Amino acid sequence: IVIGLLGAAGSAVTGLTDWSGTTKKKQKIGLMHGMLNLGATALYTTSYLLRRKKKERGAAIALAMLGYGITGLAAYLGGHLVYAEQVGVDHTQVSAEYPQDFVAILPEKELSENQMKAAKAGEISVLLVKQQGEIYAIANTCSHLGGPLCDGELKPDCSVVCPWHHSEFSLKDGSVISGPATEPQPKFEVRVKAGQIEVKLAG
Ligand code: FES
Repeated sequence: IVIGLLGAAGSAVTGLTDWSGTTKKKQKIGLMHGMLNLGATALYTTSYLLRRKKKERGAAIALAMLGYGITGLAAYLGGHLVYAEQVGVDHTQVSAEYPQDFVAILPEKELSENQMKAAKAGEISVLLVKQQGEIYAIANTCSHLGGPLCDGELKPDCSVVCPWHHSEFSLKDGSVISGPATEPQPKFEVRVKAGQIEVKLAG
């Protein structure tokens, strides 16, 4: 029971981080999930205290069983949040759809200095930015909840802020500068050939 209670505390911290940066509908489900877990934690804690006092063992077991049932319900909602609502899921999972070889995605003359532009590499939306003559390319879909980075704020220090929940990513390597996002943006190698900007997934 003690190990379970310690695990619950850790899960609550990560869950709260995911919860704070999501939509209202998902927050409602998340709130229910959290309240159920809180209730189950209280039941298990009481059960543990009764066991330590070595009295009312029957009541202690009954409370733990009730906690088990409530945990099952909370787990169902947690699964729904992850699998159906995509909360806490990296929205830029690197897959075979990302270009492994250079593909042309935009004429170079269409990208001005300090401009952000989204262009398609197959099905993948790529954010292109030119700063101080250098062209950078990272995935345009925010790893947090899928916000379009091209509609965000371009910072002068080679970073972009997501318009939805304000995660900030480095354009140089896609790394997270500040959350709520925890996963980096996939980064692309860039070259200009025959007047076209070409990208491929950085190795
Ligand atoms: S979608 Fe939430 S920070 Fe980008």
